[in-house]
Amino acid sequence: MIYPVILCGGAGTRLWPLSRKAYPKQFADLIDGTSLFQRAATLVQGEGFAAPAIVTGDPFRFIVAEQLDAAGATPSAILIEPEGRNTAPAILAAALVLQRQDPDALMLVLPSDHLIPDAPAFQAAVRAARQSALDGSLVTFGIEPTRAETGYGYLELDDPSARSAPTPSPLMRFVEKPDAERAAAMLASGKYLWNAGIFLFSLAAIIDAYRRHAPDLLAAVEGAVAGGSADLGFTRLGVEAWRGAATISIDYAIMEKADNLVVMPFAAGWSDLGDWKSVWQESGPDAQANVCSRGATAIDCTGTLLRSEVDGLELVGIGLDDMIVVAMPDAVLVAPRAASQRVGEAVKTLKARS
Ligand code: GDD
Ligand code: MG
Repeated sequence: MIYPVILCGGAGTRLWPLSRKAYPKQFADLIDGTSLFQRAATLVQGEGFAAPAIVTGDPFRFIVAEQLDAAGATPSAILIEPEGRNTAPAILAAALVLQRQDPDALMLVLPSDHLIPDAPAFQAAVRAARQSALDGSLVTFGIEPTRAETGYGYLELDDPSARSAPTPSPLMRFVEKPDAERAAAMLASGKYLWNAGIFLFSLAAIIDAYRRHAPDLLAAVEGAVAGGSADLGFTRLGVEAWRGAATISIDYAIMEKADNLVVMPFAAGWSDLGDWKSVWQESGPDAQANVCSRGATAIDCTGTLLRSEVDGLELVGIGLDDMIVVAMPDAVLVAPRAASQRVGEAVKTLKARS
């Protein structure tokens, strides 16, 4: 059985002011009435897949339960982290909890900040990678890169001609978030795919990888699972032991170090809705390349996203080219579309001031 585990504890600051500390982007309706979290929860349903387990932070537990209910998805477990310590501890906690239920299970790690429109194609890719995971490999999912993005992980294939193969192939190297120069060189070499942030592995293989590459983290998270408690359908991890866990992503803690990685190419459509530029792109811009929400009007604009989240507020752009304007009741963002990657700076600046 494959157990999907959905990670939804991140902050998503580049989508400020829609994405907030108390209501991060994965729960917001970004595109079409459902949240990215809801999409992740319903991405893998059906034969061979168990109900999803969710790992999230305490402030989000009721949003998670509500949104699952609205999407008609029943979780197998909702794990609550005492505080966010990035993805390596979160994934390990889920693996240790699942191990108690079904030690032979495979676990599919799904982030909740992506759009994968073709669910059947994705499920087929997961099934095609199943045997590799059963054999003990850590399976990554590889996306054909289109730009020298520095916010992603890069997967170097042993054999670059396998980049569109229908089955997993061995990886030479995993490089997390390279600098701009290295990203450009990797893109130009034609040997790399982007890491989708989705992983498939057996519980035994991933726990063994932590034992080898992050033994202190394993000890801390084992303590947090042992010291956990059940609370109204949620499973809380033990606070004291959790504080001893390092704050680190699985990409740095495990994937860059492991020697049993394979990559399953996935070409059926994937986009990371990490910033306003990607929301603009994925929302289907009109003939003038504008995207306007209800309550927003573009006059003589091109390439512009105008979004009002305030009932009764009219947002009008005139003569704007390639701009992002997002109006919330308590904050308004105005920026060139090309500065989308910099929006996280607003959160840092405002935080430093308060
Ligand atoms: N539960 C929990 N706790 N979830 C978390 C935490 C945490 O402390 N931190 C992050 N997450 C969730 C986020 O909400 C997101 O859905 C997912 O884990 C990935 O975290 P990000 O913070 O968005 O990672 P990233 O985008 O910088 O990088 C990862 O994804 C890229 C693709 O989008 C890496 O895996 C890269 O290698 C990859 O290319
Ligand atoms: Mg991300």
